[in-house]
Amino acid sequence: MKTLIQNGTVVSATGRVQADVLIDGEVIVAVLAPGSALLGNDLAASVDRVIDAAGKYVIPGGVDAHTHMQLPFGGTAASDTFETGTRAAAWGGTTTIVDFAVQSYGQRVFDGLAAWHEKAAGNCAIDYGFHQIIGDLNEDSLQAMDGLLGEGISSFKLFMAYPGVFYSDDAQILRAMQKSADTGLMTMMHAENGPAIDVLVKQLLAEGKTDPYFHGVARAWQLEEEATHRAIMLANLTGAPLYVVHVSAKQAVEQIATARDLGQNVFGETCPQYLYLSLEENLGAPGFEGAKWVCSTPLRSRAEGHQDHLWQSLRTNDIQMVSTDHCPFCMKGQKELGLGDFSKIPNGIGSVEHRLDLLYQGVVNGRISLERWVEITSTTPARMFGLYGRKGVIQPGADGDIVIYDPNGHTSIGLPVDGNGKTHHMNMDHSAWEGYEIDGHVDTVLSRGKVIIDDNSYLGARGDGRFVKRGLSQYLI
Ligand code: URP
Ligand code: ZN
Ligand code: ZN
Ligand code: ZN
Repeated sequence: MKTLIQNGTVVSATGRVQADVLIDGEVIVAVLAPGSALLGNDLAASVDRVIDAAGKYVIPGGVDAHTHMQLPFGGTAASDTFETGTRAAAWGGTTTIVDFAVQSYGQRVFDGLAAWHEKAAGNCAIDYGFHQIIGDLNEDSLQAMDGLLGEGISSFKLFMAYPGVFYSDDAQILRAMQKSADTGLMTMMHAENGPAIDVLVKQLLAEGKTDPYFHGVARAWQLEEEATHRAIMLANLTGAPLYVVHVSAKQAVEQIATARDLGQNVFGETCPQYLYLSLEENLGAPGFEGAKWVCSTPLRSRAEGHQDHLWQSLRTNDIQMVSTDHCPFCMKGQKELGLGDFSKIPNGIGSVEHRLDLLYQGVVNGRISLERWVEITSTTPARMFGLYGRKGVIQPGADGDIVIYDPNGHTSIGLPVDGNGKTHHMNMDHSAWEGYEIDGHVDTVLSRGKVIIDDNSYLGARGDGRFVKRGLSQYLI
């Protein structure tokens, strides 16, 4: 099957150009001057399918490097399966996810990894890779980490938060970072001071402060800044490359920026929720409604300026990329577990479908350039996690993962039940993004040369997506 995408504006991290894209089978084989004749043939007449992208952007498929499909958490499990979550991702123009395989406490690393393969294999709509959560950092785990790269896993996540669940103390972190420095595996860090948070949680609950809003109070920015600084210093000491996940506090951004200015291999990711949503407006919504926006790190105060600072940091490259931390829970039966006790609300927001749209709105609003949009949603995630060349770029030899984005289209984000043209496709009974209007639209999505979204229809199939083995980060200095 040969596909020609004609007349579009091909946008990359470094520029935009009028060009046609030729895909043969699963792979891009040429990026051509418009209307060019290849080997003397009329190209459009010689291919199986021509897609007209006139007036539209042709961009590399989105790479969401932080998702949690089916994650067991907070006494329940994230409500998107690999099937439903990757299909929703496809609707939103994401063609690769990197999910977190979990080693639980008491489990061996490779048993956790095998269980994750079992959940995902044959179920995904788009390609997927894994990071490895190390939830029990002991001698056996450290040894197992030597085998991760051979399995196509070039990064692992540690938690300075969640004592009694995924938490690692400083001694464990130091050992793991030494391993990271030795092997080149990227250390990913959930940087919040968990033990201190737990004290504040207990005190707030004892004072009767049980509403979702107090989740944000307990997880104070000082405890994100402190943990971020501690992680950076341990990485500095050991030489480990460090990637701080879901950064929400402007003070944590400044820690990352300072380390980067000094030449350290430290990187930061933020998420759409930290760019748009806030402690006051969302976590502070009346009654229990704020539970929809309980995630960690928490939404921050708009009055304190975190959101504006994060947008700015995306311009200056103090923050390198945007992932979703997609971890959806329904209100009914899941978020409700925390009625009367915010600390029992399962942590997470569902956004995997909306990342490209929400960041494109940042282009419309003058926050970032069109090229930066592609860079932070596709090219950098691919480079950061060893996928670049196959993913994150439109060039000969790359996978035919392409989104045709209509800047004159419109997307209304609403509830999962359609009927008013406002919808989403994630397996949730609400949306953290209800009412958001986007001045753009994902028109067509190709995954390895196959059209999986077109004309507001899903044309893919369960099992289209394959596991992708990743190499070491291509972003290190
Ligand atoms: O609230 C969140 N972020 N849930 C997912 C787990 C994590 O820490 O990334
Ligand atoms: Zn985390
Ligand atoms: Zn996460
Ligand atoms: Zn459209």
